[in-house]
Amino acid sequence: MASAVVKATCFVLIAVALVAPLADAAISCGTVVGQLKPCLGYVQGGNVVPPPCCGGIKSLYTSAKTTADRRSICYCLKSLAGSFKGINYSKAAGLPGKCGVNIPYKIDPSTDCSKVP
Ligand SMILES: *[C@@H]1O[C@H](CO)[C@@H](O)[C@H](O)[C@H]1NC(C)=O
Repeated sequence: MASAVVKATCFVLIAVALVAPLADAAISCGTVVGQLKPCLGYVQGGNVVPPPCCGGIKSLYTSAKTTADRRSICYCLKSLAGSFKGINYSKAAGLPGKCGVNIPYKIDPSTDCSKVP
């Protein structure tokens, strides 16, 4: 009995976890982190941009179709900026260009996300 309840609860949680990202228009911060993780080594002082980093930036860029998407990515990046040490923001700002992607705002802690187009 109890285990059936546990199983049912688990199933519901998994179902919600699978469906929520699709139902939610804005891109979750977890997605952003996952896509940009390969870039961390470079912005913390690496010399070459790893190909998976550009892949992440590109897929994030193509999935950010609405203003709400782009703002949620912006807020996510700002909230993350404080939690990783040693990020070189001039390198971070240059990343999209190195990957051939034109991002309409700077990746910078001073960016005003409410003004992101
Ligand atoms: C950040 O990166 C730029 C470009 O590679 C470099 O010129 C600059 O010295 C770096 N700044 C810091 C604080 O490491």
